[in-house]
Amino acid sequence: MTDSPSQWHRVANRSDIADPGCRGFQIETDSMPVFGFVVLRDGQLHGYENVCPHAGRMLNWGPHRFLTKDDSMIMCAAHGAVFDIGSGECAAGPCMGESLRTIPVREVDGGIEADVSGVNIF
Ligand code: FES
Repeated sequence: MTDSPSQWHRVANRSDIADPGCRGFQIETDSMPVFGFVVLRDGQLHGYENVCPHAGRMLNWGPHRFLTKDDSMIMCAAHGAVFDIGSGECAAGPCMGESLRTIPVREVDGGIEADVSGVNIF
């Protein structure tokens, strides 16, 4: 099996995201759209698919709203599962022991890019 070639897409301007803060995105691929989000905290970027491991629902409360009120955790709007920003592991809620699926992200020339080549599309 060979790895898919990288598919980097610009998903935001760096200046669009506070620290801490987050930004949702949608990337059109050949087969179907990929929904994801990026979180910036302490200068570090973290990217995840916008899919909750509990019931497969989108996590966000509204446009670009993925975090708890104090911006310390990612929180699912459906049933309140909370996830560590750095690891994506569920820390409380109905999917304890599971994790968000990561999407590689990077900062390039004032923009934020995401690589969706590893996203499994069924
Ligand atoms: S779908 Fe996220 S906690 Fe249930």
